Amino acid sequence: MKPRALVTRLLPPAVMDRLRRETALALEPADRVLTPAELIAAIAPCDALLPSVTETIDAAVIGAAPQLRVIANFGVGFNHIDVAAATARRIFVTNTPGVLTETTADIAFGLLIAAGRRFSEGERLARSGQWAGWGPLQLLGHDIAGATLGLVGFGRIGRAMARRARGFGMRVIYCGRSRLPADVERDLGVEHRERDALLDESDFVSLHVAYTPETHHLIDQGALARMKPTAVLVNTSRGAVVDESALVQALRQGTIAAAGLDVFEREPRMEPGLAGLPNCVLLPHLGSATIGTRTRMGMMAVDNLLAACRGERPPNCVNAVVPG
Ligand code: DGY
Repeated sequence: MKPRALVTRLLPPAVMDRLRRETALALEPADRVLTPAELIAAIAPCDALLPSVTETIDAAVIGAAPQLRVIANFGVGFNHIDVAAATARRIFVTNTPGVLTETTADIAFGLLIAAGRRFSEGERLARSGQWAGWGPLQLLGHDIAGATLGLVGFGRIGRAMARRARGFGMRVIYCGRSRLPADVERDLGVEHRERDALLDESDFVSLHVAYTPETHHLIDQGALARMKPTAVLVNTSRGAVVDESALVQALRQGTIAAAGLDVFEREPRMEPGLAGLPNCVLLPHLGSATIGTRTRMGMMAVDNLLAACRGERPPNCVNAVVPG
């Protein structure tokens, strides 16, 4: 018997073909977000749920599916899922680590360059019909070679950023949950700092932490005040790691120079005033958005889903549930 699966969003074609072959889909997914009522109605008879970051999978959703065995998230971040509620019901929760590392680091490094070198302002000027030609003082940005990059969080994506930064001639410092052994730091060409020292010292700060109660508003008014007035903040992790209202004030008042953001506190909404600021580059959560990466994420989510439905512990399980 094929497992009955609720796949909330339309995924890349190869992933959908496999899902249609190997599962019984509860509904034909569309390229839109299901309402909470649609989600609760559709999940009722399902063995498996394959959600995306756009749905909140809370205790009410989990409680509506008495047969549910697995929540196989399409994405590495799973802060939108009530893992405790799933664990209490012995439901596996899985994610898609590793396959999106390089793609997400590309977006983060792209934002670092774009915000530091004022791509958005330049592009708007070039398209405006108002450009009067080259100027020695026009849209001067911040050098990347020789600058210090501070990485807040030093997991897979943080380390991929460090590799890119070294190629661009940057000095790299990091803070994280734990300090790496000295030989690993030497091999990676990075130095450890406590968070406040990192904020004081960095020319560019890039955030690579998971969103948890501990990282909520990690970059708040006080953290922004520590940063250099010439510093650039990059966020590709989760929006609520930054206090977006404090960031708007900081960008407006010149507390920091610029920001490059791919994620927002209340997506798809943005803090009033943010979109009007010239000194930020804004992307609509594109971190893992390539056809290759989204296909690999989908295949990994399907592997997790099918393993759980066969009664095995899925390979990318994030909670302590024992099969059987
Ligand atoms: C991720 O993988 O966490 C992306 O942000 C999409 O959910």
